[in-house]
Amino acid sequence: MTRDIKNHLLFEVATEVANRVGGIYSVLKSKAPITVAEYRERYTLIGPLNYNSAKVEVEELPLKDPFIKDALDSMSEKGIIWMYGRWLIEGAPRVLLFDLNSSKHFLDEWKSDLWNISGIPTPTNDDETNNAVLLGYLVSWFLGHLVANDNKRAVICHCHEWLASVCLPLCRKRRIDLTTIFTTHATLLGRYLCAGSVDFYNNLSNFDVDAEAGKRGIYHRYCIERAAAHSADVFTTVSHITAYESEHLLKRKPDGVLPNGLNVVKFSAVHEFQNLHAQKKEKINDFVRGHFYGKYDFDLDNTLYFFIAGRYEFRNKGADFFIESLARLNHKLKEANSKMTVIAFIIMPAATNSYTAETLRGQAVIKALESTVEEMQTTIGKRLLEHCARYQQHGNEVPSLDELIRPADRVLLKRRVFALKRDSLPPIVTHNMADDANDPVLNQIRTVQLFNKPEDRVKVVFHPEFLNSNNPILPLDYDEFVRGCHLGVFPSYYEPWGYTPAECTVMGVPSITTNLSGFGCYMEDLIENSADYGIYIVDRRMKSVDESINQLTDYMFSFVSKTRRQRINQRNRTERLSDLLDWKRMGLEYIKARQLALKRAYPDQFKAGGPDPFASGHQVKLTRPLSAPGSPKDRASLMTPGDLGSLQETNQFLNTEDYMGFKLENEDNDDYADDK
Ligand code: UDP
Ligand code: G6P
Ligand code: GLC
Repeated sequence: MTRDIKNHLLFEVATEVANRVGGIYSVLKSKAPITVAEYRERYTLIGPLNYNSAKVEVEELPLKDPFIKDALDSMSEKGIIWMYGRWLIEGAPRVLLFDLNSSKHFLDEWKSDLWNISGIPTPTNDDETNNAVLLGYLVSWFLGHLVANDNKRAVICHCHEWLASVCLPLCRKRRIDLTTIFTTHATLLGRYLCAGSVDFYNNLSNFDVDAEAGKRGIYHRYCIERAAAHSADVFTTVSHITAYESEHLLKRKPDGVLPNGLNVVKFSAVHEFQNLHAQKKEKINDFVRGHFYGKYDFDLDNTLYFFIAGRYEFRNKGADFFIESLARLNHKLKEANSKMTVIAFIIMPAATNSYTAETLRGQAVIKALESTVEEMQTTIGKRLLEHCARYQQHGNEVPSLDELIRPADRVLLKRRVFALKRDSLPPIVTHNMADDANDPVLNQIRTVQLFNKPEDRVKVVFHPEFLNSNNPILPLDYDEFVRGCHLGVFPSYYEPWGYTPAECTVMGVPSITTNLSGFGCYMEDLIENSADYGIYIVDRRMKSVDESINQLTDYMFSFVSKTRRQRINQRNRTERLSDLLDWKRMGLEYIKARQLALKRAYPDQFKAGGPDPFASGHQVKLTRPLSAPGSPKDRASLMTPGDLGSLQETNQFLNTEDYMGFKLENEDNDDYADDK
């Protein structure tokens, strides 16, 4: 059948649509402005309906497209509940969210169908898999109905991660006339194997994948992921390192790599982000005064804030490395008699029962002191004014301190100061942990004995919950917190991309990552001497564990040794890299993937010599090619020479010399202008 390729519809399916869990949410949210600018209302994101997040993130809209409306109305007749609306983020993309519970009565039927058509087993007690099945059947039901009625427009269905991928084998099996893309942001087996104590990267080609999946009780999930990779028209991952892993673990070589971008917002004044750093740091200072009350004997002007943040995957995210290297850093700073203090924050959500009384008390006593001091300032000011105004009475005499601060004031001040007394050490963790004794972060802190002692130059604060501005002790959104910090430390062992260091970069905050993370490899490939630009990359491939930890410690130690001026300069250099991560550049890979998907599904319309189906459409201009490594590097093992190739690779013979101060040629054109 011939369909309109140029005006095709695009559906992206993921479980993190309007529902924050981890990095996939960041992909969809930050990419929305450029995808909407390209597709307008032809773009819809599909995901499960999570009422709690949808009620704050989604505004319901009436359905205008008659074909989409018809498909959804027919599903409603069968009891399916859905929500259609606008995701309240920049770009305002359309979203279609299915209430999975409303389709639960179909679960058994669909599970046995999945078994019959694909041999994928689904045990009863795995809710995550059950939800993946429900979402997959709902999406293929919807899309099947849509393309059966609308025989004009081509349709692309782009699924992210195994949880949202069950529709791919279904579309293939049912021969639904559309084209599909599967992007995996990790592999299940990779995540599981790395979380254990396996030498993952040296054994990638040797794993008996079915047996390994079986041993870990994830065989059925693995089958879904593998079926998705094989049944999609185009298969992609987010980095070369994950492409290599997918080839071995999922047994299909990805067609290309779709690296993750960010929606880079440039301030009109370059120093604006530096001012923001100073402002947000002040808020972190407020927290620190409260948290360390009674033992607050260090100078905030000589204090640096380091942090690690992300989902709580202790080994995969490198929290184990971070804590061990903090202990070594503490030792080195003590030996060097350093005047600097490092406060290391660990922001990783774990099961908790709210804040500890001690944490809340810390903030309360310091707030009470602050407000008493503020009141006294006003009173003293008034007394001073009165005294001076009556100069006839006193002559030129300046009032004595006793006249200004009266006995009652002193008593009040003393009471506030007494409230600051504390025998115990400042706490490590801000919350009551559900399982304190077995918590891996706490246990390692116990092992290395980083207990926030006065003599420690490195102090630790574990905040086992994501941050937000309603937080009673540290009222900052995550990005504000990042701005206020000095260094992000993400020494991951398993990290297909790793948004956290990328986000640091665009905010002008230096970060440490590894050559096992997609982001780290990407930056290492593009930049010579990346540490100068505030991108420190720990070698976790060629070095032993001990050597890698020492390298991490050395990076942190040299960072602590910088002067304020050097830190400010480095932040400027870091921030200048943000264009490298902009979706305006990265998004081109998505465009290529979609064109390839259409080409594979409708080859006749792309025949050599025939009219170009995109000819008169929206022209995507390549920006000025960016730099690539000055010295050739052997990247063969990480390359995935598929149909797509990678934009970055095609530019590899250009020079890095002009790195500083480059400007995107289309920076000011409105190809991607927000059309809201
Ligand atoms: N994040 C957040 N709040 C926090 C800490 C982290 O929203 O307090 C976000 C962070 O902005 C990032 C995401 O969590 O976008 C983590 O993504 P990443 O790709 O680093 O890891 P993933 O969790 O997907 O493995
Ligand atoms: C920014 C501000 C400066 C401030 C500095 C502190 O650059 O613009 O006014 O002095 O931050 O930097 P630091 O690395 O010491 O937090
Ligand atoms: C995954 C990966 C992470 C990546 C994110 C977005 O959750 O763990 O490394 O950044 O997806 O692609």
